Amino acid sequence: MTGPAIAANSLRKSYGDKTVLDGIDLTVPEGTIFSLLGPNGAGKTTAVKILSTLISPDRSSGPVHVGGHDLATHPQAVRAAIGVTGQFSAVDGLITGEENMLLMADLHHLSRREGRRVAAELLERFDLVDAAKKPASTYSGGMKRRLDIAMTLVGDPRIIFLDEPTTGLDPRSRHTMWGIIRELVSDGVTVFLTTQYLEEADELADRIAVLHDGVIAAEGTAQELKRIVPGGHVRLRFTDPAAYRSAASALSEAVRDEEALALQLPSDGSQRALRSVLDRLDSSGIEAGELTVHTPDLDDVFFALTGGADVPTQPAQPAQPKENVR
Ligand SMILES: Nc1ncnc2c1ncn2[C@@H]1O[C@H](COP(=O)(O)OP(=O)(O)O)[C@@H](O)[C@H]1O
Ligand SMILES: [Mg+2]
Repeated sequence: MTGPAIAANSLRKSYGDKTVLDGIDLTVPEGTIFSLLGPNGAGKTTAVKILSTLISPDRSSGPVHVGGHDLATHPQAVRAAIGVTGQFSAVDGLITGEENMLLMADLHHLSRREGRRVAAELLERFDLVDAAKKPASTYSGGMKRRLDIAMTLVGDPRIIFLDEPTTGLDPRSRHTMWGIIRELVSDGVTVFLTTQYLEEADELADRIAVLHDGVIAAEGTAQELKRIVPGGHVRLRFTDPAAYRSAASALSEAVRDEEALALQLPSDGSQRALRSVLDRLDSSGIEAGELTVHTPDLDDVFFALTGGADVPTQPAQPAQPKENVR
């Protein structure tokens, strides 16, 4: 396959006079995790359903390619390349986990023997061996999600859509799921992930698109998105009071914290900005004891972008600097 795993131009979808997707562009390079981030009702599932051929985009949409195949003219080829784990489970609770897996193997026309092999391997990989012979209705939320993803992997898809894979999971199961998703990508699979959790996008995604009001309000790496909102700063700490004083006069715009022997400078946290601070210290022959970069987190970005209709005309809320180093 050449080109990106997913490429959509001006994707549109309306229901009656309600516009859900108002022309969104998506490009997902092969072997990466892309996260479509948005609150409930933003249109995430609609986007997943279109990209996975379950529903059609509006006629006014631009071209969509998934796995190198044109969605409009070669939907079967797209289907062969992808796996979808929907927001609502495809697991049949009345039969066992193993039977669910074998059913998927049948759907993918695997031979009986091959089906058993693949099912056993995936049940093992997703830590479901002990539960394999029990009805899926007895599984915990986390186990059901794991089974759901295992079922998606039966056809060995190169592109996987995960629609809110961790919504409703407890923190521990969520972390397990994150590990699973990372592992998928390390095998070269492309993951299109929707989530309403900023932390999850931050944790997993190579690139994030924020869906709001039917359009992509912002797109980039987590770091790039965080630079959109002000509030980031660099904090320099000194152990030697004399060094602190020299630095304070060299960096006159810094906010001083005499007690902690620390200086704080507004900064977007980029490499260039850091280098410039260090160069200025260097040329005065000063060494900082410790340098930390504080960037706004994705929550700040999200609220700045989706905080209401008046956001674009107002400066973004200054973000509270977070005390953890990113
Ligand atoms: N089949 C449909 N008919 C009418 N409206 C729909 C349909 N499917 C989704 N919608 C509407 O589209 C909007 C986006 O829904 P959805 O894509 O499910 O959002 P998300 O997955 O981000 O929560 C919602 O307002 C929803 O009510
Ligand atoms: Mg949804």
